[in-house]
Amino acid sequence: MDTVDIVRVDPADEALLAELHRLHQAVHAADQPDHPRPLWEPFLARLRQDNREMRTEVLAAHVDGQLAGRALIAWPVIDNRHLAQFDLEVIPSHRRRGVGRALLAGVRRRAQEEQRRTLVSGANRPVLGGPPRSDAGARFLAAMGFGVALESMSRRIDLAAVDAADEQRLLADCRPRAADYECASWTGPTPEPLAGGAARLVNRLMTDAPTGELDIEESTLDAARLHADEQAALDRGTHLVAAAARHRDTGEVAALTRVDVRPPGDHGTIWVTIADPRHRGHRLGTIVKIEVHRLVRRTFPYLQHVYTGNADSNAHMVAINERLGYVAVEAVIVYQLNR
Ligand SMILES: CC(C)(COP(=O)(O)OP(=O)(O)OC[C@H]1O[C@@H](n2cnc3c(N)ncnc32)[C@H](O)[C@@H]1OP(=O)(O)O)[C@@H](O)C(=O)NCCC(=O)NCCS
Repeated sequence: MDTVDIVRVDPADEALLAELHRLHQAVHAADQPDHPRPLWEPFLARLRQDNREMRTEVLAAHVDGQLAGRALIAWPVIDNRHLAQFDLEVIPSHRRRGVGRALLAGVRRRAQEEQRRTLVSGANRPVLGGPPRSDAGARFLAAMGFGVALESMSRRIDLAAVDAADEQRLLADCRPRAADYECASWTGPTPEPLAGGAARLVNRLMTDAPTGELDIEESTLDAARLHADEQAALDRGTHLVAAAARHRDTGEVAALTRVDVRPPGDHGTIWVTIADPRHRGHRLGTIVKIEVHRLVRRTFPYLQHVYTGNADSNAHMVAINERLGYVAVEAVIVYQLNR
């Protein structure tokens, strides 16, 4: 076993941040080379992210004065203040020498100091037909006593390969079921008249979408917090592309989806897709996703892939995504440990 020194990273320490980025690139090249290449600006923005919703902190692990790994910890600030969400990276040449174990001990210490009772992290597993994936993360977390809280799948769609005629047929099939609803799509912050309803819907995600054994509470977002969170994303250079369906009679926001596009804009990630349970059965999930794909294609013609993650037990959402052309990339297992 190596002697591992764990230090808390000063976000103003540009030299160490540059080293951390090189480590991140080495881990990416070894473990997920098919994923979009990590870039410096979004990396820096993520490490320095400190906003009303989330505080971020990084622990660095050195062996003989050399950077060997890091832990990124996210502390939810307003809701779910019992959680410490973290993610470890150890440089491939230093694995199986106790660096991960030392970093996790550091995370646990900090979680204790911050009075967070639940540690949460994710790890990948390969899927049939998907790219090769190491299961080191899953094995590590299991060996450290973590339990599986949620099994989910990361999928992606190749927007350039979507058959426009098929997409139009699908939309035409859905529309008669959704005659009581009107659709809107936009880029940037949620338009004022929709913001309150959109925030209410996002809060429901924690209770309506399957969350397995995850020790997680419904959030309490309102229009002001949604807008502040959106502004923080825009300040980090993220573009927001969204679509919603509104019930014509009541004005309620019945379904919502948003794709986040980070520089360099070659891929996007679904931040949320949700249909209000009171408005289900009207094909709104499919409609808003088609609308958002169309707006993404118009706004970022060079964007190829949109990624999304769904719990395996979320059968409706998985069926919609597969019908639209999403294919599985990797399994994402969420692990949890109560200190
Ligand atoms: C997961 C990861 C952080 C582990 O770091 P590490 O420094 O190699 O971990 P350690 O040497 O401290 O391992 C501690 C124990 O975890 C288990 N473990 C770690 N890697 C393993 C592997 N590839 N296969 C089986 N067990 C493993 C073992 O029980 C190990 O103890 P041992 O070596 O005495 O048998 C590293 O592989 C990594 O960076 N992977 C990519 C990122 C990732 O998957 N992160 C998700 C976890 S947050």
